Amino acid sequence: MTGKNKIKVAVLGASGLVGRHLVRLLTDHPFFELALVTASTGSAGKKFKEINIHTGSFPGFMAEIPEAVQSLTLDEFDPEKLLTAGVQIVFSALPSEVASTIERDLRQKGFAIFSNSPAYRREEDVPIIIPEVNPDHLKIIQTQQRKYGGFIVTSSNCCVAGLALALKPLMGFGLKKINVTTFQSISGAGREALPAVDIIDNLIPFIKDEEEKISFETAKVLGNLLEDKIFPAGLPIQASSVRVPILHGHLLALEIEFKTPPDLEEVLNIFSHNTGLHILDLPTAPRYPIIVRPEPDRPQPALDVWAGGYGRKAGMAVTIGRFRLQEKFLRFFLLVNNLIRGASGNCLLAAELARKLNYLDYKIE
Ligand SMILES: NC(=O)c1ccc[n+]([C@@H]2O[C@H](COP(=O)([O-])OP(=O)(O)OC[C@H]3O[C@@H](n4cnc5c(N)ncnc54)[C@H](OP(=O)(O)O)[C@@H]3O)[C@@H](O)[C@H]2O)c1
Repeated sequence: MTGKNKIKVAVLGASGLVGRHLVRLLTDHPFFELALVTASTGSAGKKFKEINIHTGSFPGFMAEIPEAVQSLTLDEFDPEKLLTAGVQIVFSALPSEVASTIERDLRQKGFAIFSNSPAYRREEDVPIIIPEVNPDHLKIIQTQQRKYGGFIVTSSNCCVAGLALALKPLMGFGLKKINVTTFQSISGAGREALPAVDIIDNLIPFIKDEEEKISFETAKVLGNLLEDKIFPAGLPIQASSVRVPILHGHLLALEIEFKTPPDLEEVLNIFSHNTGLHILDLPTAPRYPIIVRPEPDRPQPALDVWAGGYGRKAGMAVTIGRFRLQEKFLRFFLLVNNLIRGASGNCLLAAELARKLNYLDYKIE
């Protein structure tokens, strides 16, 4: 695709943890051209190379911004600037309270919004897309376009991205109950949400709204689109979430109770072949979204957080291992990269899929 034919995009919240990864992933993207980046009034007017000096955080905590876009200036949000720049797609990495107004107004103006924020995930005509799990839910874009002009597609909560990928292949066995304990990294709280002194040498058994998000969003992703509404699957999911002192990657301990349990060999076979998932051939899609590790001490954040391949694909696969089946209960661990599969990469993959399915073939008037 030549530069002329690429779809122009903007990243809102481009200086944050998720936004910086979006900027990195969108640099030299084959379908999309990064035309505008925005931040709060505190960073607006600065170039990435200027704010990089002031990050002052642990090495590797914030994504490196590629040389080619280091000189981009962060703008203050202004819908008129999006229109002037010819932007059609907006990637949002804004805090929820800011996103709720901005995303609604942009949808009304006809923009396609791919959002990491939780602000609209509970709306019945807004899909939460994990592209390999529920690509059919993208169809509801058309319902939103009829109502509002534009549309919002959301990425899920970061744990849900891994959980839904692992549960989808097992749905056929009748899932009676799912218990999940999550061990979530510091970066999941955003750039400044967690004072270092609170988490060093500590575990915090509370993450605001997290357990409710995990239950609701997983059921929605695995639910059914009927006419113009998404009906969540009837899955009883109970979550317990803990913040742990690592930088990146959320580890999940799952216990699944089956109505009709498969045998362990069958489970390993299903996961090893990624049976039941839609394997996609797109720039940000990993070859396989699930990787099974046979070692007794995997997955680990230090070893598996970048699973999935190289470049845009790195961090897009979830790693699972330590399988145990006892009577009707299957137990295993899962690791998801919260900033990539759990946010920026998944969001970009949803946009790539929407383009492939021709949902982006229109111009904003
Ligand atoms: N972190 C994760 O693992 C993760 C995973 C899934 C989903 N999410 C969701 O993704 C979104 C971004 O998360 P994050 O972790 O990247 O947060 P973050 O690091 O705190 O970044 C927030 C971004 O929003 C900008 N911003 C803040 N207030 C603003 C305002 N009033 N107007 C305009 N821009 C404003 C910030 O700009 P300044 O730099 O100028 O302050 C920054 O660019 C959130 O909705 C979060 O729930 C995060």
